Amino acid sequence: MANGSVAEVRDALADVGYLADERAALVSYLARELGKPVLVEGPAGVGKTELAKALARATGRELVRLQCYEGLDESKAMYEWNYRKQLLRIQAGGAERGWENVQDDIFSSDFLLARPLMQAIASEDPVVLLIDEIDKTDQEFEAMLLELLSDFQITIPELGQVSATTMPIVVLTSNDSRELTEALKRRCLYLWLDYPELERELEIVRLHAPELAETLARRLVEVIRMVRDLDLKKPPSIAESIDWARTLLLMGAEDIDRETFEQSLSVLVKHRTDIDLVAERVGVKLAGPSAPAAG
Ligand SMILES: Nc1ncnc2c1ncn2[C@@H]1O[C@H](COP(=O)(O)OP(=O)(O)OP(=O)(O)O)[C@@H](O)[C@H]1O
Ligand SMILES: [Mg+2]
Repeated sequence: MANGSVAEVRDALADVGYLADERAALVSYLARELGKPVLVEGPAGVGKTELAKALARATGRELVRLQCYEGLDESKAMYEWNYRKQLLRIQAGGAERGWENVQDDIFSSDFLLARPLMQAIASEDPVVLLIDEIDKTDQEFEAMLLELLSDFQITIPELGQVSATTMPIVVLTSNDSRELTEALKRRCLYLWLDYPELERELEIVRLHAPELAETLARRLVEVIRMVRDLDLKKPPSIAESIDWARTLLLMGAEDIDRETFEQSLSVLVKHRTDIDLVAERVGVKLAGPSAPAAG
């Protein structure tokens, strides 16, 4: 993915198995050209994480991933002092060299344990940094990220600043489970990923399950869209479409009739109440092999 147009970025992503729409390709292109982080939001399973992975593959860069969770802090995300090594160093010869020397020594980079954010900044080769599910952390953690996101640097009180020598491509993802701060949003390009258009989803399904006949794949995507139109707790995402396609292949299904649908329903929806609703509203619309002929 050399310097190129949006279309080239889209093609480069397609070459590594990610079918981006126009907006996703544009934002990916801008991220690189403007050197700005991208915040990707959207429902579960629409390809947020995969976009970052695909960018890494397309650019031949290493993917450095920080999986966020509640309670994640600096020591797990950025860096930590290697206390054990520091202690050994002090024991191994503090007295004769003087405390000043030892102190300078033990707060040098040799005694630092780099966590993902520091690894991405300090890397000699440019990387793709994925900060996955940022909405799982708290606002303090977001505040801590601001310096990194705007200046690509990390300040360590005892050491000073560590600045990126190679520009990482930074992708943050969020499931929108809480509103992110304005300060964070301001520093990022924004991409809302949603369930794809029918034709794109068909392409994605065919890419992941190439053995599935085109007509069956099309039918699958149509039925998925009917299911999404219902008011479900958790509508099926692209991930479920792909799983369903593979399931139909394993079942040797030739059509999506009522029986096939009901047998494989739990691949699509994963809440008891959703299953009942879908069986009732969509299942009955499908012709069953044993369905009484209409009329
Ligand atoms: N545009 C696409 N092209 C090809 N495959 C895709 C695309 N979008 C999604 N997928 C596939 O869909 C699946 C789900 O994607 P992914 O894990 O990135 O979702 P997500 O948005 O990160 O979900 P979550 O919020 O649950 O983490 C993956 O297997 C991925 O390969
Ligand atoms: Mg994800």
